[in-house]
Amino acid sequence: SSSCKLFFPEDPVKIVRAKGQYIYDEHGREYLDCINNVSHVGHCHPDVIKAAHEQNQLLNTNSRYLHDNLVDYAKRLSKTLPEKLCTFYFLNSGSEANDLALRLARQYTKHEDIIVLDHAYHGHLTSLIDISPYKFRNLEGQKEWVHVAPLPDTYRGIYREDHKDSALAYANEVKKIIEQAQKRGRKIAAFFVESLPSVGGQIIPPAGYFHKIAEHVHQAGGVFVADEIQIGFGRVGKCFWAFQLQGQDFVPDIITMGKPMGNGHPIACVATTKEIAEAFADTGVEYFNTFGGNPVSCAIGLAVLDVIKKEHLQAHATQVGNFLMELLNQQKIKHPIIGDVRRGVGLFIGVDLIKDQEKRTPATEEAEYLITRLKREYILLSTDGPGRNVLKFKPPLCFTMDNAKLVVDKMDEILTDMERENTCEPIGKHH
Ligand SMILES: Cc1ncc(COP(=O)(O)O)c(C=O)c1O
Repeated sequence: SSSCKLFFPEDPVKIVRAKGQYIYDEHGREYLDCINNVSHVGHCHPDVIKAAHEQNQLLNTNSRYLHDNLVDYAKRLSKTLPEKLCTFYFLNSGSEANDLALRLARQYTKHEDIIVLDHAYHGHLTSLIDISPYKFRNLEGQKEWVHVAPLPDTYRGIYREDHKDSALAYANEVKKIIEQAQKRGRKIAAFFVESLPSVGGQIIPPAGYFHKIAEHVHQAGGVFVADEIQIGFGRVGKCFWAFQLQGQDFVPDIITMGKPMGNGHPIACVATTKEIAEAFADTGVEYFNTFGGNPVSCAIGLAVLDVIKKEHLQAHATQVGNFLMELLNQQKIKHPIIGDVRRGVGLFIGVDLIKDQEKRTPATEEAEYLITRLKREYILLSTDGPGRNVLKFKPPLCFTMDNAKLVVDKMDEILTDMERENTCEPIGKHH
């Protein structure tokens, strides 16, 4: 379908194989992958492939039979989570996980309404397009049960770095939304949020923001859903889950996982509390998912967890992420187009490009030009954010210091060229 889009549509890349943080086109040319947060522990990681192959040779079936892989995997996941999140559902995609989270929240609270952040994306199902301003703004619009809170972006949002308590100010916006909704007789089922809003432009919410919102949402009888689909599984380095950046004592009621979980194999999960799971079961309607939680998927999930641990990928993400941020901050001093290097965490870093310092106008065309030029240098990077001007670093976690240095050196060369030539004209086909 023409609705399906390619990266670099003018000159798409045809890839035939990949290894670690590198992918190779049909001519054998090597590209450095700074985009793929799904191939979390590295493309085609041998341990993950081996686990899939071995289990495939033995058995693959559904979760209507007992199987150790399913139980072992749930146990291993629960070790990474607060004790309260002890019930698991396995599924095939992030969208499926978020759709189930929506059902759980509504069933438990008996409320209907959902609060989301502006520019959020939570998946491609009808139910999720409805709670994804990033999508529904271009379609028929906002449903009466959906409420949109401002993005807690302290660089270009309504409360900025000079605000004395931006966490409180942004949380109060959510409080106001709840109060206004309640005045209209609406009842809040959930606050749905990506723990680090990625499509919104690699935003790092101010510390304390989630705690305050959870208080308001719980008071309104709703639950807190953390979407960890892009940023979970150690990407942020110092924590395994990004919601933990808000403080070890912060615990969502439901979390959803996907993308990196199977390193490319379709597997997703919802973790929640016993109370919420019991309320869902009380309907008497069974939950069955043909592929979710099959022994092969679980073997793969277990192998991914093993690799993260064995290769110390969390510590590695912190180390390489800090180095990359340091290099990017040096570039910020040199190139005025770099407005902000997000206070990144691990290998989740955004670089906000601007046309002017005062208004911080998004440098959309310049960002596009830069990533197109980088691609000519065999470096794949993408943009995001409402203005599509935020360079988004989310490479496989095996990304190295040398990789970071190479990307930033190339960026420096291209930005210097752009300043000299004062240009960001669309560039023609790859040659
Ligand atoms: C934050 C977030 N949630 C949910 C989804 C949906 O996941 P999937 O594409 O696996 O259905 C995505 C996918 O991009 C996402 O980025």
